[in-house]
Amino acid sequence: MAKKKQIVLGIESSCDETACALVNEKGEVLASVVWSQYDEHRRFGGVVPEIAARAHLEKCDVLIRECLDQASLDFKDLTAVAVAAGPGLIGGVLVGVMTAKAIAFAHNLPFIAVNHLEGHALVARLSNSISFPYLLLLTSGGHCQILEVAGVGKYKKLGATIDDSAGEAFDKVAKMLEIGYPGGPNLEKRAKLGNPKAFQLPIPMKGRAGCDFSFSGLKTAVRVQVERIGALSDAQKNDMCASFQAAVVAQMRDRLEHALKIFKKDFPKAKDLVVGGGVAANGAVRQMLEEVASKHKMVFSAPPINYCTDNGVMIAWAGLERLQLGLTDKLDFKARPRWPLEDLDTNA
Ligand code: KG4
Ligand code: ZN
Repeated sequence: MAKKKQIVLGIESSCDETACALVNEKGEVLASVVWSQYDEHRRFGGVVPEIAARAHLEKCDVLIRECLDQASLDFKDLTAVAVAAGPGLIGGVLVGVMTAKAIAFAHNLPFIAVNHLEGHALVARLSNSISFPYLLLLTSGGHCQILEVAGVGKYKKLGATIDDSAGEAFDKVAKMLEIGYPGGPNLEKRAKLGNPKAFQLPIPMKGRAGCDFSFSGLKTAVRVQVERIGALSDAQKNDMCASFQAAVVAQMRDRLEHALKIFKKDFPKAKDLVVGGGVAANGAVRQMLEEVASKHKMVFSAPPINYCTDNGVMIAWAGLERLQLGLTDKLDFKARPRWPLEDLDTNA
């Protein structure tokens, strides 16, 4: 039977990207707009929550109109409104949530409060045939976790970072090396030009039981070497980027091997290994996941690069998946600065 026609508007404003998108029931992206606030935050070398919230407020409604215009649609054509309702910088989250509530109320549409991390967790399903359950590496600016995904809203965390996230480590090392903001993509570009064996760096957690991560010691090790050398040449910066990235990837590989043992016991027939979050845009991380998957006769899937970092498509898609299970929310839903994926348990 043909699926009922549905169009969901997704709104994302939980960090430093104001984004919105329209996605239909077939997973077709009808429109997508991402406005990155890099210029607002660049001179501070990181995201300033107050500035982010004000910038979201200025852009949110403008981008929604732009999205509708791109798709030649209007509010009357929408089936539901989904918004990232947390976790994130609360000022920005509130802007998105209030905008979504206003649209839902004014146009009498279902309102869907999407967990931002669930957006990252599910978006690979938009363009790949991935069935539940799957093993997920969720690695972004705010998080680094390995999860068993048994269904929409059904997450079991096998491990997480005990200090910084991977993205944070990329950004802080980039800041130390003065290679520009945003750190992750710049560091990856330089890593391609450098020698990953040039600097000896630790691989925190390697060989340790469990699936937790740690990046703070690695970051400190980079700092110590940078301070020892003094002014790094361009070539030394490239080598440091390559060495740092290799250490991050090695840790992820080790942690995933541990997680796979648990996952295979829990779900012997499952075959999908999936990645999500901003750091999933990194080529070396993707390459490692491809290798791990092939070693374990699994299938590796990743979202397209532009749906790894924050975007509206992932929120619209997660909203659509929820809508199709009848999981909508009331207009008194509270925006949440903290919202672990494991708290999402539903009856779906
Ligand atoms: O998912 P995301 O857009 O925002 C959060 O939810 O946190 O992730 C942003 C993070 C930043 O730390 C950024 O430096 C990192 O993802 N990132 C990368 C790359 N592209 C973005 N890290 C490494 N390599 C990349 N190519
Ligand atoms: Zn994110």
